[in-house]
Formats: sequence, C-alpha cells, structure tokens
Amino acid sequence: MEHLINNRVKQLEISGIRKFFNMVAGTEDMISLTIGQPDFPTPAHVKEAGKKAIDDNFTSYTHNAGLLELREAAADFYKKKYSVDYNPSSEVIVTTGASEAIDIAFRTILEEGTEVILPGPVYPGYEPIVRLCDAKPVYIDTREHQFKLTAELIEPYINDKTRCIVLPYPSNPTGVSMNEQELYDIAAMLEKKEIFVLADEIYSELAFERPHASIAKFLRDKTIVINGLSKSHAMTGWRIGLLYAPEYITKHILKVHQYNVTCASSISQAAALAALTNGLDDSVPMREEYRKRRDYVYKRLLEMGLETVKPDGAFYFFVKIPNVNTNSFEFALSLVEEAKVAVVPGSAFSSLGEGYFRLSYAYSLETLEEGLNRLQDYLTKNRG
Ligand SMILES: Cc1ncc(COP(=O)(O)O)c(C=O)c1O
Repeated sequence: MEHLINNRVKQLEISGIRKFFNMVAGTEDMISLTIGQPDFPTPAHVKEAGKKAIDDNFTSYTHNAGLLELREAAADFYKKKYSVDYNPSSEVIVTTGASEAIDIAFRTILEEGTEVILPGPVYPGYEPIVRLCDAKPVYIDTREHQFKLTAELIEPYINDKTRCIVLPYPSNPTGVSMNEQELYDIAAMLEKKEIFVLADEIYSELAFERPHASIAKFLRDKTIVINGLSKSHAMTGWRIGLLYAPEYITKHILKVHQYNVTCASSISQAAALAALTNGLDDSVPMREEYRKRRDYVYKRLLEMGLETVKPDGAFYFFVKIPNVNTNSFEFALSLVEEAKVAVVPGSAFSSLGEGYFRLSYAYSLETLEEGLNRLQDYLTKNRG
C-alpha cells in the first residue's frame, strides 16, 4: 500500500548530513568532522534545574506557548542582547527545538504556489517543509558573495508569489554572518513589500567578531525570529526552541504549535529557564573555545592551499574541493575510504553546495589536528 503514502512525503529524502554520518558510523578509527552539535556538556546548573523539575513532579503540560517565566526570560534575552522588544505574553512561543519553530512558521505563512527565497548553499531543514506546504524554494546563488544574501541580490527574485525570505545567519554550513548595515539594507528594501522574513538565528550566541545583529531590529513587523538553546547551551537533546514574532503572526502560529506538540517538554522548559536566567552568558567560554579552533583550522586549511571563507560565527568551514573533477559525494567517500576522515559533502546543502565540503569544528583540538593531518596526507597523495 505504499502508493497511498502522501506523494510530497514520498519525494522527500533523508538529510544528506545524516545519510553520511550514518554511513561512516561504526567504521573503526574514523575521525568524523560531520556533526553540527556542541561537544560540550550542558552547563551543570541547567542539568540540575532539569533534575529538580523531575523530583518536584514538574511533569505536566504547560501553557501551550510555554511557561510564562520562560517566555519572560526569552524576551529579556532578545532585549538585552539584540535590542529587540517582544511581549512575553503574546509574542514568544517555546517550541520543540528550532526545527519545530521552522515547521510551524512555514505552515502558518505558506500556501500552494507561494515562493520562499533561500540563500544557497543552505541548511537542509527548510526546503522539505516548504515543499510539504506545496510552496516553492527559490535559491539565490551566494557563492560569489561570501555566501551572503544582499538587498541587491534578493530584489530581482521578488515577484507576486514571494511569501518569505529566509535569512539564516550565522550560517550553517558556511559560518558567515551579516552585520547591522547589511541587515538594514535588506530591511529597507523590504519595508514596503508584503513579504515575511524568517530569521533563523540559532547560532546567534556563537558570533566571533562582533555581537550578533537581528534583522528584527529593523523589520520587526514582518520578521519571524527562530532561536533556541541547542547551540548556545549545548542542549540539542533537550529540544528547546524559541520563536518570536508580532502578535498578528504568533496568534496563528500558536494554533499550529498547539495541535502539533501541545507544548514543549516541561522538564526541558525548567532547564531552559535556568539557562536564560542564571546562564545567559554560559555560551561565552564555549564560544572562546570555538574561536581558538576556528583559528587553528583556518590556518591549517590555508597551509594546505584550500579555498574557504573565514567564518565569523557557528562552528563550520565550507571548503572548496581542490580537484574539480570529483563531485562532493565522491570526494567525501574517497576521503573516508582512503584517509578515514569524514566530512559532509557540500551537495547536502542544495545543489549550490556541489564542489564543496563542510567541516564541523565542534570537536576537540586533538581530534581536529588528527583529522586535518589525515586530510593533508590525502591531498598530498591525490594531488599527484
Ligand atoms: C541553521 C539551523 N537551524 C535550525 C537547526 C535545528 O535546531 P534544533 O536542534 O534546535 O531543532 C539547526 C541544527 O543544526 C541549524 O543548523
């Protein structure tokens, strides 16, 4: 009876990142630089708050939008750090990871035939949801523009069907981010247009060169901000995301969220409250460690003669494959087979990622050093 499965679902593919990770998992002596999750433990005080919630039997449903105290802390977080004001009672929703926030946002604003503008290469979590909504992803090639969308690049792609522009910065897979001026220019271009912006800011606390800037500061009335604790507080498994938007949007998103998950886990919410009250700066020591690793990896990649944009956020490098005759999947596979080091083929990040690979540096310096030594040996052998 498989023919009865929804056609749009049948056409979806498992994410290329997971596919590759699963393929190499279990191979002995493999150095995997594939996964995009912090290698630090969740801060101790946050874990304690989670344990205490269990012991206190804090195990029931919460308000659909999340505990009010947590929404207040989440609103404070955006006000203090990024100068954007949200009303915790009506403009903040606590979600099951940023992933659910992306899903419910798209399902609320998209309709059949509408278009979503995305930078390419890009995180593979957007296109499948856009397609499930019967909407169309429209990719803008950012490869010659330091992987960044600009107002000039976006404008020619806007038409009557454009419903949303995704601004995912700091970026997975490229690590680049946008400064205030660049965001301001995009906001000014969109000011008179009836188009939403989905600003995925999940890496906002991992910005190395300057504090993160949110486009919501300039275009609050059209922006849906996605954030969460997965990356800032090393909490990927707790599944806490945050969604911020004006009330005329959140009041509709909340219905989709309610029928989808009712509310985020009460225990995780109690932990998240500790993270956003006593642990607002928990990410600082982790960020400093990522910065060291970034500098080390960048130096090594340049010494190998590889081409890459120096990332200013997140924990990834997007590197050009030197031998233009291999596609990214073949390259990554051969790297696994010959050098026992795994990276993610660029094609996992849309066809515009072809010809590149993504290297995650959410790994210890020792692991990175060994992985890069292996990559260097491989390149020396294969460049002839
Ligand atoms: C850009 C981006 N957005 C969203 C997510 C999903 O985050 P979460 O684990 O909180 O669902 C990820 C995870 O890697 C990501 O890289």
